[in-house]
Amino acid sequence: AAAEAEPGGVFDFPELKAGVDETLHVAEGYRADVLLRWGDPLFADAPDFDPTAQTAEAQRRQFGYNNDFVGFIPLDGDGRRGLLTVNHEYTNGELMFAGLVANTRKEALTALNADQVAVEMAATGGSVVEIARGATGWHPVIGSPYTRRITSDTPMAITGPAAGHARLQTKADPTGRTVLGTINNCSGGITPWGTWLSGEENIHYYFTGSLPEGHAESDNAKAMGMGGPFFGWGRFHDRFDLGKEPNEANRFGWVVEIDPHDAASTPKKRTALGRFKHEGAAGVINRDQRYVVYLGDDERFQHIYRFVSAGTVGKTRADNADILDSGTLSVARFAADGTGRWLPLVHGENGLDASAGFASQADVLIETRRAAKKLGATPMDRPEDIEANPKTGRVYVMLTNNAKRTADQVDAANPREKNLYGHIIEISPDEGDHDATTFRWEVLVRCGGPESGASFGAATSADGWFGMPDNCAFDGRGRLWIATDGNSRKATGRADGIWALETDGTRRGTGRHFLRVPVGAEMCGPCFTPDDESFFVAVQHPGESDDEAVPANYDKPSTRWPDFRPDMPPRPSVVVVTRKAGGPIA
Ligand code: FEO
Ligand code: CA
Ligand code: CA
Ligand code: CA
Repeated sequence: AAAEAEPGGVFDFPELKAGVDETLHVAEGYRADVLLRWGDPLFADAPDFDPTAQTAEAQRRQFGYNNDFVGFIPLDGDGRRGLLTVNHEYTNGELMFAGLVANTRKEALTALNADQVAVEMAATGGSVVEIARGATGWHPVIGSPYTRRITSDTPMAITGPAAGHARLQTKADPTGRTVLGTINNCSGGITPWGTWLSGEENIHYYFTGSLPEGHAESDNAKAMGMGGPFFGWGRFHDRFDLGKEPNEANRFGWVVEIDPHDAASTPKKRTALGRFKHEGAAGVINRDQRYVVYLGDDERFQHIYRFVSAGTVGKTRADNADILDSGTLSVARFAADGTGRWLPLVHGENGLDASAGFASQADVLIETRRAAKKLGATPMDRPEDIEANPKTGRVYVMLTNNAKRTADQVDAANPREKNLYGHIIEISPDEGDHDATTFRWEVLVRCGGPESGASFGAATSADGWFGMPDNCAFDGRGRLWIATDGNSRKATGRADGIWALETDGTRRGTGRHFLRVPVGAEMCGPCFTPDDESFFVAVQHPGESDDEAVPANYDKPSTRWPDFRPDMPPRPSVVVVTRKAGGPIA
């Protein structure tokens, strides 16, 4: 059953004071230990991290940059050994490289040399790290056969309905079935069969150059926001230059499935789950045993998706090896009366045919956004993580914000003009069936401070409200924990962090502050071990500027967390939170 509402609520930790400073804070009675930092050696042959002499070769053997999604796959029954799967979303050149004169990521774009770009490419992607819990806490297991770095050069297969399509073929890959690497991996999911799903999000940042006037891919490129690169990779690698390799961008923007149990396995881009700016890929086994993945497209006025597998989930990883290659992708339409409908993105149905420029299901998937708009999907306020509560089956959607929504664009599901602080929607699938065509929904909470038109529960303290929900996790009791991205001294007077949020009873909508990150960082990851004793969180881009009037760079980061050494830049890190007295996070 769902956690029961009590007078004091279901959360029992002493609330943390909201605020912002140079370090990380967690609620009293808990400890937060840095587990993995950017540059930490992952293999016996990996060199120690030296920020003044970093090389791509070293970086490929060390923990990557900007940890976002964190997943935990137990390797034993007592929760003391497991695989941590971590996305390395992107790089902050301005903070990473000694001697680089750049105050923003955008300035770094033109300032980086080929060697620095190679470091960035090796720091991007993901890590699989075996970790173990000993007498002094969790530590990486150096020498583990599972530990693996994935980078923007790791060979990957393209599978599903769009695999091999002409629009995915390039000079380097005339088959349209193999691609080098994954980029901008934001959030993700762990499947019940023990694989890791990783969402490729802001892929447009990486593509330089432009398509010739009237090129067949022009509208597609525009729909994905190409044309304002943040990274200089295309200056050294033709495949990231749209003018030189127009189809390379079609090979990114997918969900990647990685098997962390086999370090030699080839990651697979699962095209059946659509191509857009994928945030996460959390799923649930439906009552009929089919697998359902909820997917957010994180951009203003983009959509919420659901994939339902054609096959049912089998017992072993091998049984499920191709389960994500066939199924139905749908997009959500919200009605004002609190009902909603999933609209299937199926070629040949509802106008998704040659008359609209969709010659096949591959076209529908490569241009998922255009297909969704054609069906009348509801444009949302930046859909980030979407997760089903394993105890109740209700689904929670983090909508991070949308300052550009105008009064005439306000609707029931996106109820605020100029939505600076975001909101959270709760979806109840009809009859608890995640494959049902229809659902009911309501806004669980409009986020932000008391003066912002927010709707947190009345018991929420001055520290308990937050803006910009991004990632979320359920603990073993089905309680909701939220990580934020975008709170700052300027926006809210508080750093990003973790807030617990009541979803049931009289305290529904009550927030409670648990942990906050150092200045400049966003909070990612959150992930519990099955026993709820360890809570992994990811501190991303610490040391960034949180005020554009005060630039931050390698020489002057906004913090030097977590080492606080004058010769060490800030380092994105995965942190593990445990209770000092032992036992589950309360
Ligand atoms: Fe990478 Fe949607 O945050
Ligand atoms: Ca991020
Ligand atoms: Ca995110
Ligand atoms: Ca975000």
